[in-house]
Amino acid sequence: MRVAAVLVLMLGCRASCDVDVTQRGERLFRGEESLAAEVQGQGVPLPAEASRCVNCHSGPAAPALDRASLLGRVSRRNGPPSRYDEASFCALLRSGVDPALVVVLRVMPRYEVDEAQCHALFAFVTSR
Ligand code: HEC
Repeated sequence: MRVAAVLVLMLGCRASCDVDVTQRGERLFRGEESLAAEVQGQGVPLPAEASRCVNCHSGPAAPALDRASLLGRVSRRNGPPSRYDEASFCALLRSGVDPALVVVLRVMPRYEVDEAQCHALFAFVTSR
């Protein structure tokens, strides 16, 4: 009986904790929680209004970020086909290097994201 109760608690947390993570990812994506960012090589912090993912990644200015575009095996920037996982997604945000080792344009800012922020962002973009 006690074991069952613990299991129910764990499973309950699991479901609702995942929702929390995805919601945090959405807040980060929209800039409601801000992230430190800069244009590579300039060493000057970007103002929060300029670093929101949603500014660029919800129109024609930048690639769509969703489950199909990130987890699918596709050629990016004329590189060999590649797909993202959480580690390569975080690496791209920090360094601009994609899973095929191609560097993205400088218009894509470089971010100081910690593990939890990056995990949340990845959970959000791959949830849609
Ligand atoms: C100022 C505009 C801008 C902002 C803000 C921005 N991006 Fe980007 N991002 C781009 C552009 C443009 C590219 C494509 C660059 C290229 O192809 O060289 C890109 C590429 C990417 C890629 C690579 C996609 C692929 O298919 O390889 C990911 C992942 C990404 N951005 C995530 C994010 C996230 C997460 C944020 C917010 C934390 C963000 N971007 C904010 C413009 C932006």
